[in-house]
Amino acid sequence: MATPNSERREVFSTRFVFILAAISSAVGLGNIWRFPYVAYDNGGGAFLVPYLVALLTAGIPLLFLDFAIGHRYRGSAPLAFRRIKGWAEPVGWIQVGISFFITIYYAAIISWAGLYTVKSFNKAWGDNPGDYFGETFLQADTSATVSTHIVPQIAIALALVWVVAIIVLAAGVDEGIGKTAKIFMPLLTVLFIIVVIQALFLPGAAKGLNAFFTPDWSALSDPTVWIAAYGQIFFSLSVCFGIMLTYSSYLKPRTNLTGTGLVTGFANSSFEVLAGIGVFAALGFMATQQGVEVSEVAKSGIGLAFIAFPTIINEMPLGPVFGTLFFGSLTIAGFTSLFSLLEVVVSAFKDKLNLPRKTAAVGIGVFMALISLGLFSTTSALSTLDIMDKFTNNIGIVGIALISVIVIDWILRRIDEFGLHLNAVSSFRVRTIWRICVVNVSTIVLGFTLVQELINLIKEPYEGYSSSQLILFGWGVLALIAAFAFMMSVIPWRGISRIDGPPGSDFGVEPDPERPYHRPRKFNPDRERHAGFAAEQ
Ligand code: ALA
Repeated sequence: MATPNSERREVFSTRFVFILAAISSAVGLGNIWRFPYVAYDNGGGAFLVPYLVALLTAGIPLLFLDFAIGHRYRGSAPLAFRRIKGWAEPVGWIQVGISFFITIYYAAIISWAGLYTVKSFNKAWGDNPGDYFGETFLQADTSATVSTHIVPQIAIALALVWVVAIIVLAAGVDEGIGKTAKIFMPLLTVLFIIVVIQALFLPGAAKGLNAFFTPDWSALSDPTVWIAAYGQIFFSLSVCFGIMLTYSSYLKPRTNLTGTGLVTGFANSSFEVLAGIGVFAALGFMATQQGVEVSEVAKSGIGLAFIAFPTIINEMPLGPVFGTLFFGSLTIAGFTSLFSLLEVVVSAFKDKLNLPRKTAAVGIGVFMALISLGLFSTTSALSTLDIMDKFTNNIGIVGIALISVIVIDWILRRIDEFGLHLNAVSSFRVRTIWRICVVNVSTIVLGFTLVQELINLIKEPYEGYSSSQLILFGWGVLALIAAFAFMMSVIPWRGISRIDGPPGSDFGVEPDPERPYHRPRKFNPDRERHAGFAAEQ
């Protein structure tokens, strides 16, 4: 009997569609509200140096690795890692777990951005956007660990975000994710360029740009600046938590992986710098209006988008137009990243339980929507979100990136296999330097970052939250992800032998011995050719 997965794996119809999907996954909330503040807080213009170093030494090399794993083993994260080596399956499930938790809070921020798009029409936040955001809009009760008090408008908006995400994922890889990327990515680019141009013409814009671009070189000797740069690159490029791996599993066998990776990496960073320019031009205007320094108005993360921007919109000409475009861009950028985050989870369960796409998308989507609504449509949403964001990003992503590199190379010695795979299909060939970046540089930087973060979080409670909040939504979430990963790994795969048809049909690509990037340490193309299928036997 034909089972859903006995059909060929879904594919993106063209490489162009895949590039758009990859860029629109990378360009998200992290680019528009996270980057500008992180950059400013870590040395302004001088931050661009560690940022660029992080992009070139870890971001792009690990993006290549994600692409190579997904493309060669043609599966969701757990399936790909299982095919690399049976016992490595939990690595994939940890990535799924991290994406699960990021997805449920990411959807909440999109619902806020969507509501603020509408609220921009009449500047519904009134004269005091700070009070409005915390007290009226979120009705935030940051001392409550879990609240059952629902905020109706947020519950409705969040439910709508989930309906859209489920519909898009149920439509499929090319019809859903690919088609929306084709519409949303150009739309986002146009809207955001208009926002930036409008911001650049505001009085005082130059003051903001000076603050952003004036380098504080002393910041370069501070390790936390480097940690921030690497953290930003990982989150922003969507590497190491299953996204790019899953997307590349939907590529046709002969696809130029490194060329695609370079385009994705540089497009994402260009968007990030553009966001920095736009945001700081607007902050310069606000500082000029208030007669204060830019540093006094540059607030972090959530505050920057939902408090500083409404303040700017109140004071500027054509504020409602600017607000609608800004929050509209944030909503669109968020949505396309949300699809990619949700796809990591949907695709994993679809592979594991051999489910048809629609069943997987609706089943997993509704389950996650209910948890998301339960946690983030109530008055305790803000603190829950803040803690979950901190722990999943700074410990979760960094930790799993380190574990992946250790498993793939330090233990299994398989990095050369992926280097050869990349070179067999790509135009831009990776060389030994790529391996050094992935194996050596990443291990040192990620290990150092992880230890630092753990020490900080253990030494003092993050942002002064109560221990019950931190245990439940921080440490507890990490423990849950680990337990879930091991539990899922012992459940048998349903119908795995049928995935992708018989070996050799379109599975992987044989590395080209004429184009090796260096002498492989331990890789035998004949033996490894169908390594993924060997794992099933
Ligand atoms: N890469 C996505 C972002 O920047 C997750 O928001």
